[in-house]
Amino acid sequence: MVDEPDRRGFLKLATCAVGGGVGLVVLAPVIRLVLDPAGKTTVTTPTDPIDLGNLDLIPVGGDPRKVNIVAPLVKDAWTAARDVVLGAAWLRRTSPDKIEALSAVCPHLGCAIGWDLTQQNFICPCHDSRFSAAGDPLSGPSKRGMDPLPIAVKDGRLQLVWKQFKADTAAREEA
Ligand code: FES
Repeated sequence: MVDEPDRRGFLKLATCAVGGGVGLVVLAPVIRLVLDPAGKTTVTTPTDPIDLGNLDLIPVGGDPRKVNIVAPLVKDAWTAARDVVLGAAWLRRTSPDKIEALSAVCPHLGCAIGWDLTQQNFICPCHDSRFSAAGDPLSGPSKRGMDPLPIAVKDGRLQLVWKQFKADTAAREEA
C-alpha cells in the first residue's frame, strides 16, 4: 500500500509517454504534408538542351529569326507540365556553320525584344533600348547587351540551353 502513489505516478507517466508517442506518429505526416515543400526548390527550369528543329530552317545571312523556347517537361513540387513556353530567343546564322542565339528577354527590365527590319537592329519597345544585330548595346537604358544563349548543332538539329539573367545589371549574372 505504501507503494501505491509511486505506482500511480508511474502509470500516469507511462500513459502520457505512450499517448504522446502515438500522437507524434499520427501528427508527423500531417505536419510534413502541411509544411512541404517549404525550404525546397519547387520549380526547376530545365537545364538540358532543348531541340529547336533543323538548322536549315535558319537562313544564312538572313534576318534573325525568333523562336519560342518550349520545354518538353517542367516539374515542380506537385505536378509535371508538358510543352511549357520558357521564353524566346533570336537566332542568327552568320555563315553555314556559325549560329548564334540571343535571349529575347530585354536585359533592362525584361520586356520582349523585337527586330527592326528598317534599321536592321534590335529594339525593346518598353524603354527604347536598341541593340546591334550581334546584340551589342547601341542606345537606351539597358546597361548591357542582349544575353547570349548556348547553342549547338547536333545531327543537323539546333540544341539550345535556356538561361535567365538578372535584370538591370551591367554584369551578366544568371538569375
Ligand atoms: S525593358 Fe527593355 S528597354 Fe526597358
